Amino acid sequence: MTRQQGKIVVTRRLPEQVETRMAALFDVRFNPEDIAFDPAALLAAAGEAEVLVTSITDRIDAGLIARMPGSLRLIAQFGNGFDNIDVEAAHAAGITVTNTPSVLTEDTADMAMALILSVPRRLAEGAHVLLRDGTWPGWSPTWMLGRRLGGKALGIVGLGRIGTAVARRARVFGLAIHYCGRARKAPQIEEALGATWWPSLEEMLAHVDIVSLHTPHTRDTYNILSAERLGLMKRGAFLVNLSRPELLDEAALAELVESGHLSGAALDVFEHKRGVNARLLELARANKVILTPHMGSATLEGRIEMGETVIVNIRTFLDGHTPPHRVLPEGRGPL
Ligand code: 8YV
Repeated sequence: MTRQQGKIVVTRRLPEQVETRMAALFDVRFNPEDIAFDPAALLAAAGEAEVLVTSITDRIDAGLIARMPGSLRLIAQFGNGFDNIDVEAAHAAGITVTNTPSVLTEDTADMAMALILSVPRRLAEGAHVLLRDGTWPGWSPTWMLGRRLGGKALGIVGLGRIGTAVARRARVFGLAIHYCGRARKAPQIEEALGATWWPSLEEMLAHVDIVSLHTPHTRDTYNILSAERLGLMKRGAFLVNLSRPELLDEAALAELVESGHLSGAALDVFEHKRGVNARLLELARANKVILTPHMGSATLEGRIEMGETVIVNIRTFLDGHTPPHRVLPEGRGPL
């Protein structure tokens, strides 16, 4: 196979199989130390490359794009979400942006299901009892009672690829599926999932026992679970977020869990730029909140497939075609 023209810079270390394949196909610079690029490193990379392979840790905003040299033609995001990139500014600068959808859907839905189970069934708390004080008194009929999942209502915010995969799993666990989102799904989809549509997020929040967020972070979804909306959740309900921290008001969530209005939350994503919210950490220590460090899509298989999807996007682009997973600015056609 011939090597394609065009220098590629990959900003984070990728699985070995992916890097080996990329090295065989392209003129590529990797980041073996895996230290996240700062703006200066991103600018330097854009200066030497025609293609940048980015990840969620690379903040490519309009200001940075304005300073990038004209030689950069493609930003190939290693990830489904691309809210770290100002797609509108890239588009205006003539830079194509791609992502890696689909290949991480099932892994992320597995993790969502694990978190949906983990809070009501007190999984982390149970697993930590022996480690913390080493004194489990032995089984008792009233020891470590959680709440049954079957028969409860799950409210999915955003029934897209991942939301649908979560709904399929949750149904098997006996949860009633409720959803809301930009548009109502076709009757056959609702029927297959046994899903109930709510035209208003507020109404759905007030009726379900567990809320799980599966909508991307966009201008429209920023703080979609505001303090006011979180307050509408049923007393004793649980919240699960594997999407992006920007979707919810963390301080309001902490307050509702502290006050006992909510029974708990499981967050795979949370603000951490200036450290993790101290109240959330405290609630995690008290086993009211489970915090997993952005592990939703973290399987070896998934990350290899994400890498392969990046390669397909780059090859197609360098061959002069539209890459299969091109993303466009909001409101400019299907994403
Ligand atoms: C990725 C994710 O690992 O793909 C996404 O949207 O949230 C993660 O699972 C990450 O974004 C890689 O850039």
